[in-house]
Amino acid sequence: MTHDIDTLLARRMSGHALEQPFYTDPGIFAEDMEALFYSEWLFAVPACELTKPGAYVTLQIGAYGIIVVKGADGVIRAFHNSCRHRGSIICKAAKGHAPKLVCPYHQWTYELDGRLLWAREMGDDFDPTKHGLKTVHCRDLAGLIYICLGDVAPDFEAFADLARPYLEVHDLANAKVAHETSIIENGNWKLVWENNRECYHCGGNHPGLCRSYTDDPTVSGVTEGDVPPHLQAHFDRLEAKGYPSQFRMSDDMQYRFARMPLLPGAKSFTMDLQPASKRILGRVTDDTAGTLLKYHYPTTWNHFLPDHTVVFRVTPLTATTTEVTTKWLVHKDAVEGVDYDLTRLTEVWITTNDEDRRVVEDNQRGINSPAYQPGPYSPIHETGVIGFVDWYCNAMSRRRGPAALAAE
Ligand code: FES
Ligand SMILES: [Fe+2]
Repeated sequence: MTHDIDTLLARRMSGHALEQPFYTDPGIFAEDMEALFYSEWLFAVPACELTKPGAYVTLQIGAYGIIVVKGADGVIRAFHNSCRHRGSIICKAAKGHAPKLVCPYHQWTYELDGRLLWAREMGDDFDPTKHGLKTVHCRDLAGLIYICLGDVAPDFEAFADLARPYLEVHDLANAKVAHETSIIENGNWKLVWENNRECYHCGGNHPGLCRSYTDDPTVSGVTEGDVPPHLQAHFDRLEAKGYPSQFRMSDDMQYRFARMPLLPGAKSFTMDLQPASKRILGRVTDDTAGTLLKYHYPTTWNHFLPDHTVVFRVTPLTATTTEVTTKWLVHKDAVEGVDYDLTRLTEVWITTNDEDRRVVEDNQRGINSPAYQPGPYSPIHETGVIGFVDWYCNAMSRRRGPAALAAE
């Protein structure tokens, strides 16, 4: 059965979980993809992953195949992975290196900037300048590559202007990807986010993470204008050292930054609480700085620590399956086995991701029951979830409203 999303949005009970179809209905999943993942700015990859000209990664976002590639001029661009001849996919690997982008079907050959360079025997009237690869909006935000699939991209500058000073001190231009994982969670993408936006579940599910990360709701559930004094003192101390730290959230709650303390004695997300890498990444030299938290709906949450950075990407696959990709970044000159041990660096979040996968899957299975009824979020611990669901519902309502349609 397909459900009318407008009716469901209109009767939504604020402060409560969403009704079942939001988590199960392929029709609403298609609406989510159209309104959000095919329209909003999405985090793609850390720029440091594309080291040399010709380095590329491919992404699949719903129906769209995308190539993100570094040009001969060092600029990272994004293109639709569909040949302008008869549409074949061009780059088949998840990542690789290519001096030119050559279609495997009839070898049409594209420059790394998307221009069509060569097409065999297409006749005198053929104009190669009209058959370059279709571009995808692409920005490098202080070492994080964002893309937008929409014809007209929404404003990026307000987010970028707020983000840049927070990110620049972490110097991602001098990072490398030390490790990456991709897991499939059998849950709707919104359940992945709802789980991420609270730490009400942390004590009961994340013994490893809870060694270093607090589930204190005055840290994990803080809202703008409501920063408790102990947290404000932490922000002020670090700001005085030149590390942007204040809690800042956009009015529509789509993104947020705050440099949050770890538990006393914890310097990083490791089981022994010591830094995971001897070489710091960036200019934050105070190992009591904690973690800069960044989220940006609908695709990414991140942790920036003095010694390493962890970036996460959420990719919906179907109404009830979601891919979560995690990448650990360290200084580009840090040597594995000397400056960092891969297990120590990654074990907390590999384990935490798997624990989160399990709770998300359990959540989905319970919601699949006809007996499921949306329950209330905790106003103490789940303000972040309330914020996510409000952002989602407002974004869906706005995109579907007459004013939004007229403006488009
Ligand atoms: S489809 Fe790409 S060269 Fe023919
Ligand atoms: Fe969790």
